Amino acid sequence: MKEIAVIGVGYVGLVTAACFADLGNRVTALDINEERIAGLKQGIMPIYEPGLEELVERNMRSKRLLFTTKYDEALESAEFVFIAVGTPSGVDGEADLRYVAAAARSIAENMPHEMIIINKSTVPVGTGDWVAEIVKRYQPRPLPFAVVSCPEFLREGSAIADFMNPHRTVLGSLDREAAEKVAQLHLALRAPIVITDLRTAEMIKYASNAFLATKISFINEIANICEALGADVKEVAVGMGYDKRIGPHFLDAGLGYGGSCFPKDVLALAHMAAEKGKHPQLLRAVMEINADRREFVVQKVRELVGDLAGKTIGLLGLAFKPNTDDMREAPSIDIANTLLAAGAQVRAYDPVAMENAQAILPDVQMFPDPYTMAEGTDALVVVTEWNEFKSLDLARIRKIMHTPNLLDGRNIYDPQTVRNMGFWYLALGRGYNGDGVFPAGAEKLIAAAD
Ligand code: NAD
Ligand code: UGA
Repeated sequence: MKEIAVIGVGYVGLVTAACFADLGNRVTALDINEERIAGLKQGIMPIYEPGLEELVERNMRSKRLLFTTKYDEALESAEFVFIAVGTPSGVDGEADLRYVAAAARSIAENMPHEMIIINKSTVPVGTGDWVAEIVKRYQPRPLPFAVVSCPEFLREGSAIADFMNPHRTVLGSLDREAAEKVAQLHLALRAPIVITDLRTAEMIKYASNAFLATKISFINEIANICEALGADVKEVAVGMGYDKRIGPHFLDAGLGYGGSCFPKDVLALAHMAAEKGKHPQLLRAVMEINADRREFVVQKVRELVGDLAGKTIGLLGLAFKPNTDDMREAPSIDIANTLLAAGAQVRAYDPVAMENAQAILPDVQMFPDPYTMAEGTDALVVVTEWNEFKSLDLARIRKIMHTPNLLDGRNIYDPQTVRNMGFWYLALGRGYNGDGVFPAGAEKLIAAAD
């Protein structure tokens, strides 16, 4: 059993704290948000994440997981302190490090003894070095400490399973002994452990997110080409994915990536590169393709309904991905705002994100279920691929819509089945075989073969 403090009780901090507690450690989780901590003490989760409530409750009951707003309390007996505060985008696309700086300062001011400071937040390369400087500067008396980078790779919606079964643990430090101690803490996760220097560990996180985002923009570019040529991107992805060098993951074409991480991290990496005089052209293309998806989907709604003014458009899903209530950078925000600006009435249903969404999208009308939402609409758009949308009673939906236009932004339905049910159905990147669409110049070749 180790004594651990976790600073920041958001998606990463709360999951990290609860999982380390579940692995038998004693964890004190701290946040400066008093309401959040008061809620947690009463068992109220600040976020929706499958399995989190039970995990937190179980570990609170066994007194392995405590919550506080006081740094001295959190650090009192901690050997390891994890920083897991937010690093949102700053005005120019750089990572805003004010929360990391504040956390580092508070740790320094309240450090009662030697400790290892582990950074889990996604931070620009070099941050670990200046965290060490802050700690040195604000310690009331010099105490030994080490800084280790331990980037987090969990996904929202499957955060607990991802934390407990990581593909790898990455640790970076200039202090090998400290990194080895942090490695010991992670042994229970039975994943390969990569120990490297601080800056390389920080870079591994950005490079990983940028690569995954690139895969998504790549398949979205292929989707555009598929659509023009009458091929089906979904089957293209299956055919590509069997190649072990490519792999089947992150090849779902659709509305592009959203969320609190890919958009800000690709932008921050591009910013880091540009600041040093590099031209991150691939990263820029990744972002451009991603932004276009949100425009493109609205154009498709126009293809279905004509002029948007006065039309009622229903959104199936609002969260940036299924199994979360996180609305940060959700494609639904841009899509709803563009539809509203064009004069459409926009309504929506999401299993868990409506409360968060309503604060951001006050002009979107929320409905308690997909059927009342669909009633009288001129078009429905699948924005988030929640499982419950895959088994909707589409025959019922077809009957209650004003006009049965269905735009499948996540390619969850079988085009032929849905068209046979009487929907005007459009997907993204799923060219309709038999449309008679030929590549440019094909007519000439056919004529020449005669
Ligand atoms: P979040 O916004 O959900 O939570 C951050 C928490 O930190 C908030 O509760 C906030 O009140 C608290 N906080 C801010 N300043 C503080 C301070 N000085 N002291 C104590 N608490 C403070 O953020 P998140 O989504 O958990 O992300 C945290 C970091 O982890 C980011 O750098 C992010 O890029 C990275 N990350 C996130 C995910 C994810 O899926 N969300 C996955 C991997 C990595
Ligand atoms: C992502 C990474 O997957 C995590 O490894 C990482 O830790 C995290 O960012 C982070 O750094 O915060 P997350 O944003 O929770 O996790 O969710 P993903 O499942 O990666 O999805 C991100 C976005 O990409 C979603 O909007 C999703 O709809 C979209 N996506 C994903 C696609 O459009 N196509 C795909 O094939 C996969």
